[in-house]
Amino acid sequence: MQRQLRAMTTPCFAVLLLALAWGCAPGATAHAEGKSDGAKVYQEKKCARCHKDGGKRDLKGVGKRRSAKWLKAYLQQQESIDGKKHKKKFKGTDAELEALVKWLAAQK
Ligand code: HEC
Repeated sequence: MQRQLRAMTTPCFAVLLLALAWGCAPGATAHAEGKSDGAKVYQEKKCARCHKDGGKRDLKGVGKRRSAKWLKAYLQQQESIDGKKHKKKFKGTDAELEALVKWLAAQK
C-alpha cells in the first residue's frame, strides 16, 4: 500500500517541480534580455512616433554619424541639422536623457 502511494506521488512531485521551473523561467530570461534603460526611455517618450524602425527617420546607425555630446545637445534643442532644431525638446530627467543618449550613440 505504501509503495503504491509513493509510486503515485513521485511523478506528481516531478510535474509540480517542472511547472514551477517553467513558471519562473520566462520571468528570469525576460529580465536578462531586458531592454536597456535608454531603450525604455525611447519607448516612454514615444520617439518612435516619428522615428519608426525602417521608416524615413529610422535612427539605426545614428551613433555612427553623431557623438553622444551632439545628441544630447540636439535633443535639448541646442544643436541643429541644416539650421533646424529638433522637433521636440526633451522632457524628462537628466538621468533619462543620459541613458537615452548613451543608447542612441550605441546604435551603430
Ligand atoms: C514630432 C516628431 C518627432 C518626435 C516625437 C521625435 N523626433 Fe527626433 N526628429 C524628428 C525630425 C523631423 C528630425 C529631423 C531629421 C532631419 O532633419 O534629418 C529628427 C531628428 C532626430 C535625430 C537626428 C537624426 C540624425 O539623422 O542625425 C535624433 C538623434 C532624434 N531625432 C532623436 C529623437 C529622440 C531620442 C526622440 C524621443 C525623445 C525623438 N527624436 C522624438 C522628429 C521627431
